[in-house]
Amino acid sequence: MMNEDELHNITRLPKVELHLHHEGAAPPAFIRGLAQEKSVNLDGVFAPDGSYAFRDFVHFLSVYEAATQVLRTPDDYARLTTALLEECAANDVIYLESFISPDFCGGGDVGAWREYLHAIQEAADAAERDHGIILRGIVTCIRHFGPEIAKASARCAVETAGDWIVGFGMGGDENKGEQKDFAYSFDMAREAGLHLTTHAGEWGGAKSVRDAVQDLGVERVGHGVQAIDDPALVDLLVEKGITLEVCPGSNVALNVYPNLGAHPIEKLRQSGVKVTVSTDDPPFFHTTMRDEYFNLARTFGWDASVFKEINETAANAAFCDDGTRKRVLEQLERT
Ligand code: HPA
Ligand code: ZN
Repeated sequence: MMNEDELHNITRLPKVELHLHHEGAAPPAFIRGLAQEKSVNLDGVFAPDGSYAFRDFVHFLSVYEAATQVLRTPDDYARLTTALLEECAANDVIYLESFISPDFCGGGDVGAWREYLHAIQEAADAAERDHGIILRGIVTCIRHFGPEIAKASARCAVETAGDWIVGFGMGGDENKGEQKDFAYSFDMAREAGLHLTTHAGEWGGAKSVRDAVQDLGVERVGHGVQAIDDPALVDLLVEKGITLEVCPGSNVALNVYPNLGAHPIEKLRQSGVKVTVSTDDPPFFHTTMRDEYFNLARTFGWDASVFKEINETAANAAFCDDGTRKRVLEQLERT
């Protein structure tokens, strides 16, 4: 059993976070403030205590989209970026990849998307100067909006692919359609040199993870935890060196698993799967990176050396260029 000092030190380790939804990181007070400025009615989004209110995953997605309505301009996204990077830096995150959706940033129009992206990058540059935190973007399509709308997101991704937009991914309702319905968009993104990830095995079972690897050719999987139910798939993930973006607090908050002790992250790690730790939508799920580390250390007895290994795994699976990766690895090495 670790003592309080050891647990505290673990929460202060430098961290690499690979799975965070840009809008999902908006503090409730920030969204309430914008709603007031713009006179947008957000009835039903907040609980009486001011936190986000939702019953289950599908309701979560609709509350998420309702809250996101107040983010209407590039400047709103710049302010959001500043707020979320301050929070991540306060959690000792040194490198972050976030999911940014053209559907919310300009409605799939490439010109509008460029303006949003420019504003986000300016805010990220300022945060890197102020706090040292590095942000890179993964353009994300939204599964329940369907394959045609996803193609518009993929076009935005292709047009802005480079040192900053480093990947393409998919979130949204995993129970809608099949991974392969989105193969056209993922192929476009791959051809533009983008790295690929998709949400799979949060709700769609082990089959969804297998489909993600086989039908979309992703290098990383968002969540992926339900792979534990298929031993042959676990072997495939190990063999292919697929990295899982595991979000334990999110999975418990949405009742994918009843508690952290029942979560398969440790079994996956013991099986040799590359696991990393992220928060997904931290204020929605009442979590932070420091909370995640605290809870994992307490539940599974992970010491600093386990977290160091997990952060190195994350840095090695990051979609950034090798120069940036080297800087991140050097920072991790110093602790
Ligand atoms: N899962 C799937 N889609 C999402 C999520 C999530 O946790 N957050 C925002 N979009
Ligand atoms: Zn997610």
